[in-house]
Amino acid sequence: MEVTFVLQDGSSRTVEAEPDWKLMEVAVDNAIPGIDGDCGGEAACATCHVYVAPEWREATGERTEPEQDMLASTFGVRENSRLSCQIRTSEALDGLEVEVVGS
Ligand code: FES
Repeated sequence: MEVTFVLQDGSSRTVEAEPDWKLMEVAVDNAIPGIDGDCGGEAACATCHVYVAPEWREATGERTEPEQDMLASTFGVRENSRLSCQIRTSEALDGLEVEVVGS
């Protein structure tokens, strides 16, 4: 499957992803700038904050409870904000596009 990250400079990078990874891990593995994953994927740092493209919001599901709590104290949160460590890659998300928010 492929995932596209829209970077803070407006450029985008499309990378290959294995199913059942945390989206944050895919980003870190591919050195996507602006996604650091400082807490290791525990929904406790928000350095993996992304905006999910509108057409992918339903497929990526609802925020988890710890994610919701973390986002409540995160800067720049929008309706389509997600912590990318709380999104699991799967074939159903092939073509997923997210915008990197950075921290
Ligand atoms: Fe820390 Fe996602 S990696 S909240």
